[in-house]
Amino acid sequence: MSAQVNIIGLLYRKLVKPVVFLANPEHVHDAFTQIGSFLGKNFLNRKFTRILLHYKNEKLEQEIAGIKFLNPVGLSAGFDKDAHLQNILPEVGFGFMQVGSVTLHPYGGNTKPRLTRLKKSKGIVVNYGLKNIGVDKIIPRIKNHNNPDFPLSISIAKTNCKDTASTEEAILDYYGCIKKLEKSDVGDFYTINISCPNTFGGEPFTTAAKLEKLLAKIMTLNIEKPIFVKMPINMEWHEFKELLEIIIEHKITGVIIGNLNKDRKLDTIKDHIPKDLKGGISGTPTKELCNKLISKTYKHYGKKLIIVGVGGIFSTEDAYEKIKLGSSLVQLITGMIFQGPQLIGEINRGLVKLLEKDGFKNIHEAIGSFSEE
Ligand SMILES: Cc1cc2nc3c(=O)[nH]c(=O)nc-3n(C[C@H](O)[C@H](O)[C@H](O)COP(=O)(O)O)c2cc1C
Repeated sequence: MSAQVNIIGLLYRKLVKPVVFLANPEHVHDAFTQIGSFLGKNFLNRKFTRILLHYKNEKLEQEIAGIKFLNPVGLSAGFDKDAHLQNILPEVGFGFMQVGSVTLHPYGGNTKPRLTRLKKSKGIVVNYGLKNIGVDKIIPRIKNHNNPDFPLSISIAKTNCKDTASTEEAILDYYGCIKKLEKSDVGDFYTINISCPNTFGGEPFTTAAKLEKLLAKIMTLNIEKPIFVKMPINMEWHEFKELLEIIIEHKITGVIIGNLNKDRKLDTIKDHIPKDLKGGISGTPTKELCNKLISKTYKHYGKKLIIVGVGGIFSTEDAYEKIKLGSSLVQLITGMIFQGPQLIGEINRGLVKLLEKDGFKNIHEAIGSFSEE
């Protein structure tokens, strides 16, 4: 099984990736989504995908916020914006997924290019600007998702348009979207995305005062499902901490750390990025920023908030580092694009080995086992 995964990885990196990386990244993303959607529709295809890629071990199982997770590796928001992949991702080996970000109204996306690969930096410049088909069309697609072994989270953002640029309108937009999701009772948990960098009005809820207003309004819905907040990562700790205090005050379940990087001066950015190329950066240039914030959040608020670690996971070691820093779950996108779909099983298999090596009985024991200031 392990040899088989190594072969798939090798084939992806040596044969598929060199060809695919010559093509327009958005076309490739759309093609992979279509292939995944097709594979997910048929029992035999699902079975075959499972045989090739899936890995299961009870040491990776956890119950978090009342939800059962078979393993800690999830697909991060933005890869499956319009809910095409929920049937195939469990077979690929993911433990959970985030659909979206979904908004109250549809948005066709920012002007192209919306995806640009940074090959040397192992990242992607992302400028979709919350492209999605809107909550009304997404609800029927996930309505029948009923897989107790594969939690599905819905990432919610504000519609990207001029009308939602003011704080008041933006709050009503988030509220309207969540209200519809609540009414339809879809998804296992919600994520409030306050940190999409490429929208009209910027990121209006990354100050404590405005986040307080947004969460106060959302909480009037008396939501029972767990709620997470997706955090920005280009922030000083004292500002980040203020957001966390508001989040805790509103009894939010946890935080996802974090979103795309906006700082283009980082040493980890090794490609030339033209000034007029808009967008936030994923992959390796997010890694250290996220890890520092995960570590500090765990140290100060680890008993009050569940942490989901995201950003620059390309290997088992990257995922394990985020877990040991305090993440109960991890998520990725860019690692899968650069390494191939076998990465998920590879990480899960590798995690079991590292847990055993470190003398942990299960994943839960490893969470936060080292946390630095
Ligand atoms: C193509 C793409 C689209 C994304 N869209 C969203 C989105 O709609 N909502 C969101 O919260 N994050 C979005 N993100 C950010 C990712 O969820 C993740 O936080 C970030 O890419 C860091 O993880 P990674 O290094 O594993 O890609 C997107 C990332 C990528 C690469």
